[in-house]
Amino acid sequence: MGRVAIVTGGTRGIGRAICERLREERDCTVVANYAGNDEAARKFTEETGIATVKFDVGDYEAVQNACKQVEDDHGPIEIVVNNAGITRDGTLLRMSYDDWDAVMRTNLGGCFNMAKATFAGMKDRGWGRIVNIGSINGQAGQYGQVNYAAAKSGIHGFTKALAQEGARFGITVNAIAPGYIDTDMVAAVPEPVLEKIVAKIPVGRLGKASEIARGVSFLVSDQAEFVTGSTMSINGGQHMY
Ligand SMILES: NC(=O)c1ccc[n+]([C@@H]2O[C@H](COP(=O)([O-])OP(=O)(O)OC[C@H]3O[C@@H](n4cnc5c(N)ncnc54)[C@H](OP(=O)(O)O)[C@@H]3O)[C@@H](O)[C@H]2O)c1
Repeated sequence: MGRVAIVTGGTRGIGRAICERLREERDCTVVANYAGNDEAARKFTEETGIATVKFDVGDYEAVQNACKQVEDDHGPIEIVVNNAGITRDGTLLRMSYDDWDAVMRTNLGGCFNMAKATFAGMKDRGWGRIVNIGSINGQAGQYGQVNYAAAKSGIHGFTKALAQEGARFGITVNAIAPGYIDTDMVAAVPEPVLEKIVAKIPVGRLGKASEIARGVSFLVSDQAEFVTGSTMSINGGQHMY
């Protein structure tokens, strides 16, 4: 097996598709992280044979310990895909501080925590790949999502800054900004709202998790060594700039 890759939130949705593609296309030894849904994680391992590790990406100490354990068990982590993300939607006037904090800690804090656990090793070995999953709503904003849009927008800034720090050490840091993808997260959007969203997608449909996974697979490849600090938009043409 090839390089060790850890995919946060890797047991469901987009993360699951990323895990499968990195193993199949890049021959990676993949470890999938998840937060609490043991049943989904068990099913994932049963169906894919890919190992899982349970920790909260928003918990700094837990991330450091878990990454060390993964390295003891599988070898140095060379590829990190920061995919774990949650939504806690509501307009500003209705949003609680807890909803703000949970989304920032998980979506943005998770990227910092994972980078802190793995960047030094990548630097020492002279090779690394970090791919952060942002969102179209971090690029364009979205009504009822000041927390999520801020966290995802933060991911795009984090990516550009860390890319500058990693470049001289052979570490690339990129982001992908998915549009609306057919996963559990989008299934939670009410049908009438979803219909309006799809009507605004030029390609005329929701995206597939596998379409995001293909982008990740390219960005972690050796061929992508000159691509860093970029944001790849995969959104069916919904947002262009
Ligand atoms: N779906 C879309 O249309 C869309 C669009 C743009 C961006 N995105 C982004 O793409 C990423 C994946 O989205 P998705 O739709 O595939 O999500 P999903 O189906 O809801 O799956 C989320 C995954 O993240 C894990 N997770 C959640 N909180 C975590 C935490 N604190 N620590 C560790 N793992 C955690 C979940 O673990 P459990 O199973 O244990 O809960 C699960 O494996 C997210 O960052 C999301 O914001 C999605």
